[in-house]
Amino acid sequence: MLQDLTRFLAIPSISTLPAHAPDCQRAAEWIASELRRMGVPTVQQLTGDGHPIVWAEGPHVPGKPTLLIYGHYDVQPADPLEEWLSPPFEATVRDGNLYARGAVDDKGQVFCLLKAYEAVCQGGSPPINVRFIIEGEEESGGHAIERLLQDEPERTEADAILVCDAGYYAPGIPAVYTALRGICYAEISVRTAERDLHSGNYGGVAPNAIETLVRILGSLKSKSGRINISKVYKDVEPPTKAELKAWKALPFDKKAFLKDEVTAAALTGLKEYSVFERLWALPTFEIHGIAGGFTGDGAKTVIPAAATAKVSLRLVPGLHYRTVLEHLEEAVREAAPKYATVSVRPIHGADPVQVDVRDPVFKVLGEAFREVTETTPVAVRGGGSIPVVSLLGQRGAPVLLTGVGLPDDGLHSPNEKITLSQLWDGVAIFGRFFELLGEGSPRDAG
Ligand code: BES
Ligand code: MN
Repeated sequence: MLQDLTRFLAIPSISTLPAHAPDCQRAAEWIASELRRMGVPTVQQLTGDGHPIVWAEGPHVPGKPTLLIYGHYDVQPADPLEEWLSPPFEATVRDGNLYARGAVDDKGQVFCLLKAYEAVCQGGSPPINVRFIIEGEEESGGHAIERLLQDEPERTEADAILVCDAGYYAPGIPAVYTALRGICYAEISVRTAERDLHSGNYGGVAPNAIETLVRILGSLKSKSGRINISKVYKDVEPPTKAELKAWKALPFDKKAFLKDEVTAAALTGLKEYSVFERLWALPTFEIHGIAGGFTGDGAKTVIPAAATAKVSLRLVPGLHYRTVLEHLEEAVREAAPKYATVSVRPIHGADPVQVDVRDPVFKVLGEAFREVTETTPVAVRGGGSIPVVSLLGQRGAPVLLTGVGLPDDGLHSPNEKITLSQLWDGVAIFGRFFELLGEGSPRDAG
């Protein structure tokens, strides 16, 4: 199995970089051929104007519930490359972990699901009806899957939907997610002159694009961590008392979190809120990258005429991508000096999602976790985003957001890993889930 997964992880399916479009296609082909090898009767690659979506349907099993399984084969860029201890697309085992870009997010977990399904199909007919939808634009905010599910909503008709793209709350403590944050991602561009200028001849009078950009960015958030787009807070729906109480009861070692996961000297953000509230119940504003001027070796005395920044806000319940984008545009307009041309270009966005985990199918998943790990999953929120989740649930099927990752897996970071014992447990957990689902349909269980 490790060899198979290594071949999948070797494909650099970075969806956001156009040069890697053929790799995204290869990753989709890899999944499709695995499904065909397993004898899955319907396997299609749906191609529109984005990266292909793999759609598959297992053999029809009369009287059994239908599970729609979602995952993504695309990955984030691997940079900074020099920080990887082994090459990002040569999966390497060290100390019981498998290191590679996509090891956990989400190729490793898609692999778990495929192997789990293969296992329960062995020696006869599968225990349930399954449909797979594995996309290739999750990490880049692409719209192919949205268009598909808007045009053909019947694809989301199912008794339950399994999204295995998150992880345990902590080692030994599996989780199901009651909410994910949404996102509003944009690029802010500043132009202050027609061309870069000699900083001696014009320094003192000419406007500097990077300085202008940095002042705008600085004005968007206070030192306290408060986002200075006041309208953004007014719509936030605070978590319920029950949620706050449940979060307080979670085991949490702030010092270890700071040292081992955040790897920083101090936590930032609104001090009057707990870490969980800051992560799960409040919006964020982050600057992801700034480009402009001279950053090569040596020195160049220049006043840059143009600069850009990539930024995003994470959105919590109550907030909507479209309105937050308008608020951001307005705040940038207000902060921009008259002498500069400043624009905001939206790159992608998604609304936050909330999931009611009281549906009986969560009991079935909980039982599968218990049988394999002897632990019941805790209900938490996630700080990340999976844009398609609300559309997956559009026909009312409960969406099980879960996974086998661990907090220190380093998603989107150098040296991303999956812990091998989590990977093997994952195959067993999801295999058991498929079997238990087939033994009593969630409709009867209620
Ligand atoms: N698997 C993550 C989302 C996630 C992380 C869910 C942690 C729950 C807990 C997913 O692959 C991801 O990273 N999504 C992107 C989406 C964005 C680019 C639209 C994200 O959150 O940055
Ligand atoms: Mn991701």
